[in-house]
Amino acid sequence: MNAIAIVLHLLSAVIWVGGMFFAYMILRPAAASALQPPERLTTWVQTFKRFFPWVWISVVLLPVTGYWLVFDVFHGLSTAPKSVNIMQGLGIVMILLYLHVYFSPFRRLCKAVDQADWVAGGKQLAIIRKLVAINMSLGLIVIAIASAGRYVLLS
Ligand code: HEM
Repeated sequence: MNAIAIVLHLLSAVIWVGGMFFAYMILRPAAASALQPPERLTTWVQTFKRFFPWVWISVVLLPVTGYWLVFDVFHGLSTAPKSVNIMQGLGIVMILLYLHVYFSPFRRLCKAVDQADWVAGGKQLAIIRKLVAINMSLGLIVIAIASAGRYVLLS
């Protein structure tokens, strides 16, 4: 069970954080330089509609498998390494930020694109861009702490 849990945990982190990295670092500048607002905003809605189902799976699997390991391997948070406690705290922040993106600016972006309101859509996309930048940075930090923690933060 623990082997399955850590594999699902890592695959979820790779898919979520890797997807944000690709969207923010690669697709965002390419779309900004090649597409006009109507095509750009429509492309982002189509991109998010395909990416977010994978993020939903990740935001469920990360805490489920993470807490499974916390309790089965480390017998609770108080006896788990510091790196796991930090991962858990930052992981919750990341999940809350994602829920906010999904239910607030993303929904408004979809509505604006449906109504061909490119100014309103652009504002929502700018909000999503900032939140994704924060979540991508947190994700990279969490991965660094999770993997280096056992060598650096000993208890
Ligand atoms: C939401 C609450 C989370 C909990 C309770 C949690 C818990 C855990 C636990 C217990 C381990 C095993 C540690 C070990 O065996 O030494 C682990 C590993 C890991 N977690 Fe999390 N985690 C959470 C969220 C996240 C998130 C959001 C990410 C990435 C964005 C992440 C990335 C990783 C990675 C990369 C490892 C592998 C570390 C290694 O074995 O080298 N975790 N996590």
